[in-house]
This record gives sequence, structure tokens and C-alpha cells, in this order.
Amino acid sequence: MASVPALARNWPLQSRNDRVSIRRAGTSRLSVAAAVSTSAPTGVVTREEVITSDPFNNVSENIFEKLNKNHHQNPDHPLGIIKQVIFDYFDEQFNDGEYTKFDNLKPVVSTEMNFDQVLVPKDHVSRSPNDTYYVDENTVLRCHTSAHQAGLLKEGHTKFLCIGDVYRRDTIDATHYPAFHQMEGVRVFEKAEWEAAGCTDVELAEKELKRALEGMVTHLFGEVEMRWVDAYFPFTDPSFELEIFFQGEWLEVLGCGVMQQVILDAGAGEGKKAWAFGLGLERLAMILFDIPDIRLFWTDDKRFLSQFQAGCFKPGGVGTKFQSFSKFPPCLKDVSFWVNEQFTENNLCEMVRGVGGDLVESVALIDDFTNKKTGKQSNCFRITYRSMERSLTNEEIDDLQMKIRAAMEGEMALELR
Ligand code: PHE
Repeated sequence: MASVPALARNWPLQSRNDRVSIRRAGTSRLSVAAAVSTSAPTGVVTREEVITSDPFNNVSENIFEKLNKNHHQNPDHPLGIIKQVIFDYFDEQFNDGEYTKFDNLKPVVSTEMNFDQVLVPKDHVSRSPNDTYYVDENTVLRCHTSAHQAGLLKEGHTKFLCIGDVYRRDTIDATHYPAFHQMEGVRVFEKAEWEAAGCTDVELAEKELKRALEGMVTHLFGEVEMRWVDAYFPFTDPSFELEIFFQGEWLEVLGCGVMQQVILDAGAGEGKKAWAFGLGLERLAMILFDIPDIRLFWTDDKRFLSQFQAGCFKPGGVGTKFQSFSKFPPCLKDVSFWVNEQFTENNLCEMVRGVGGDLVESVALIDDFTNKKTGKQSNCFRITYRSMERSLTNEEIDDLQMKIRAAMEGEMALELR
């Protein structure tokens, strides 16, 4: 379980080795524009709404198919179960219903909400169409639930949890999938609260944040070793990640911090302080239920779904563990080509996923060399096909592989070797 997806793939701009002390980055001076209303319920996202002829549009059919699944709203789905366990923790820990919960906010959001309102710099890598799904220049599939922070504050919410499906263009393997789920939490404090506590506003927010999240992790995992590490997010300062020691290694389970004042001032008015956190649901569910492959969250296979029911997970990590059903054999295909200027691994993965759908288990770079004389770079990728439900035939895989090779030569303009 070494590389269950880090929820913060694109956010920490700071290298992992550079976390000795809590770094207070300078507060960004970007202003936060008036928030548009964010709590319009999901409804059904239509194909026409997200797949358009706009030159910016890069939403694939495969991604569109994920948009209305809403697994987190299914009380018997592992993601719906974990959602409920966390909601229950907040209701037990604080007053019942003190935190307002949202699980139906629309995943199609403006770039304003996804990036600008949470101070993501204009040149941040996450804004690139290589990393994010754009509907048009000003509209994206949210790449994190932080897209709703500013809007919900603006609507007057001061304690809330918000869960939803998020989308990021990515490479393909057992722990990375271009659609996954996050939960965002926000809690605003008033001046009277830090005065009563006899500490500064930042101290109170940080202390309460850590207390709430350590409690949540214990509620989920039982007694487990945890550590706080220094992190960077554009929207919090200071920022942290919480890691747990699980099966011999440290795993990041969430990102969080004290909300940047400019976001809070614009959303809730001046003179307050707040914490915020964001966590990846798949990562938690994979650990807690022993689910080995992230694609399983999207399967209709009864052998998977019938293993989970609302209430089957008990706080403290006790309860149902996934019993794997027999795995069908994989089918491996390699493809070598000369790399061109436009080539990116995410683009290749997106195209492969578009052709092979969930039959593609992984796409892995297995060879990379540069010809000394010509300076040309060659890559070889191995595509692993496997179905969760049946044995694949050689013919069908050959057929998929031919389509992939044709698309590499055609739309990707690559010279195959
Ligand atoms: N939005 C961050 C991510 O996707 C997580 C986060 C949320 C971090 C809120 C800090 C505060 O990685």
C-alpha cells in the first residue's frame, strides 16, 4: 500500500525533504472575488454540459461516465460508509448537527472557485490542462473540494464538511485514478473564543484543528501512531499533513492548515480565524477495508459491492475487510516510440484509458533512453490489461492495442519504433 494516492499530488510545492520546521510563507496578496453560490445541488450533469467543442475542452467520454455515479451518496458503498463514519465522528465530538454537511455540490465549477478563490497562483502547475479537466477556459471539473470553501463561507456557513467527487488527469496504476473523492472540513472561530482560551488566534485554530483531526484518525483507525509534518498549500498558512504509521510505513492521510486570512475575510467577514482540512476518501477506504485496487470503487461487480453495507465498519478500524475474489490473468503489451515535444505521460494515459477503459490496470514507463548521436529520446511503456470480472481474449486486447498504436501515431503524432 506504499503509494495510495496522495490527495495533495499537485499542491505541496515544497519538497518532501524540506520539512524541518513549520514554515510560515508570506501571506498572498491576491484578493478573493465575490463568491458565486456553490451549494446548488448536483442534479445530473449532462454530456453536452461537459463535452463541448470549445478549444479548451479536454473532458473525455470515460470521465463523463464517472460524473453521475456519486458513490459517496450510496450508504452501502465503501466511500459512502467512510463518509458516514466521519460525519458521525463530528456529530459525536461536537454537538449533533453543529457541522453542516454537504454531499451534493456540483463538480462542474468555475476556475474562479477551483483556483482563484483559494489563492492558487496563476502559474501553478495544477492549472495546466495537462493536470486538470477543462470544460472551457473558465470552467473545470473541480480538482479538489477546496473549490467550495469560499462559496460556503460566503453563504454564512462557519462549520462544515463537504464531500464530493474530484477529477485530476493522472498516470494509471492500482492506486491512481483520474476520478476520486475528497472531504473538506472548515471551522471558523470568533475573537471571543481565542480570548477565552488565553492564546492567539492562530494558536487556537492550530490546536483545535489538530485535536479534531487526531480524534478523527483515532476514531477511524483505533490506536495508531501519528505524526504532523510541515506542508505547503496556497490556501493555508501554516499548513500540515497528518501521517499515520501503518503496516510498517508512514502514510499521508490528509492535508490541512490555518486558512489564509484573505480567503476568510472575503468569505466570512474580518476579525475571524479558521482551520481547513482536505482528505482523500479512497486512500482511507483502501487502508481500512483492505481494498487493493482503486478501480474497484467504480465496479458494478456484485462480488465487490455485496461485501459492504452501511454500518459494517466499526470505529477503530474493526469490521469488514475486503475478501479478494480470484484475479483473472493480466495481459501485457509494450509500445516503444520516439518522444516528441508535445508528449506527456498524462496525455498518453488519458488516451489509453479512453480506448481501454477500466480494462487498463496500469501504464508504466519501462525504458527511457536517448540516442547519443541523434539526441532523440525513446520511451517504452508497458500497458497491463486485466479485467476484474472475466478472462480477456487475445483478440480483444490485440484490437485495443492496435487502436492505441493508431492513436499514438495519429492524434499524438508519435513515431513508433
Ligand atoms: N485541497 C487540498 C488537496 O487537494 C487539501 C487541503 C484542503 C489542504 C484544505 C489544506 C486545507 O490536496
